[in-house]
This record gives sequence, structure tokens and C-alpha cells, in this order.
Amino acid sequence: MPSGKAYTDTNNARTKAAAVTEKLPNRGPVRGADSGGASRFYPAFRYQAKAPTTERPRLPDGTVHPTVKPVALRRWLVRLLAASGGLVLDPFAGTGTTLEAARLEGFDSMGVEAKAEYAELCHLRLRRDTTRSI
Ligand SMILES: C[S@@+](CC[C@H](N)C(=O)[O-])C[C@H]1O[C@@H](n2cnc3c(N)ncnc32)[C@H](O)[C@@H]1O
Repeated sequence: MPSGKAYTDTNNARTKAAAVTEKLPNRGPVRGADSGGASRFYPAFRYQAKAPTTERPRLPDGTVHPTVKPVALRRWLVRLLAASGGLVLDPFAGTGTTLEAARLEGFDSMGVEAKAEYAELCHLRLRRDTTRSI
């Protein structure tokens, strides 16, 4: 790879993204507008650490879900993909992380989960006060 090429391309993408952001200040994040961390080198992607224990609902009998996603990542995806005023559908809801993220971003949402115990984890997550996880 020619020296500096990837860096130059990334810079151009970020400059264009910044220009779009200025024209549309209230449309949420723009591809390439992310800053900090590894994601600055991959404008279409975002690095996010795994969900902390505080974001992992647990039923009284000890049931947990094995692949809980971080709320911050789902919030970013909701902002990136959902149309203004749209309904967020997660057909594989798990513990309802995407549904919580949609709520925090001001969207209505609908989830489908095949396993009853995981659907119960969704209810548990959505019943609690989620404003603390912002
Ligand atoms: C990767 S997990 C989702 C985890 C979720 N994003 C979270 O953060 O908690 C995928 C979920 O899809 C569910 N699932 C798999 N097949 C399904 C189906 N056909 N209909 C509904 N849910 C399904 C699984 O039970 C599992 O809980």
C-alpha cells in the first residue's frame, strides 16, 4: 500500500461527513463522523466493549442470556439506521437491548424472542428505569 494512502482516504471521508453534519445538524450521527478509538480508522464501524454486568438482566432463578449486547452499541445502530418517527423491530430480541436502546433514542419498538425465559429477561430490562444507563 502506498505510504499514507489509507490515512488520506479516511481523512477525506471524515471531511465529507463533517460537511454533511453541518448541513443537517439534527439528523444524528453520520457515517465517518465518529471520533476516538479504533473506529476512527473504520468510519462505517464502531468498536464497543462488551456489555457490563449492570446491563445484563438476571431472573430470580439465575437465568441469564449468553450474548447480551451493549446498550451503547445498539443506541448507535438505532441512530444510524432508524428513520425519524419509525418503528424499530428486533426479530431476535434476546434480552431486549435493542428495544431499550430504541426507547432511549425516542423510538417505538417491537421485539420477538423465541425462548420464553429470554422474553422474560426483556420484560425485566424494560420494566426497570433505563435512564441510568445513558
Ligand atoms: C444474539 S441473541 C440476541 C441478543 C440481544 N441482542 C441482546 O442484546 O440481548 C439472538 C436471539 O434470537 C433468538 N432467536 C433465535 N431464533 C429465533 C426465531 N426464529 N424467532 C425469534 N427469536 C429467535 C434466540 O433465542 C436469541 O435469544
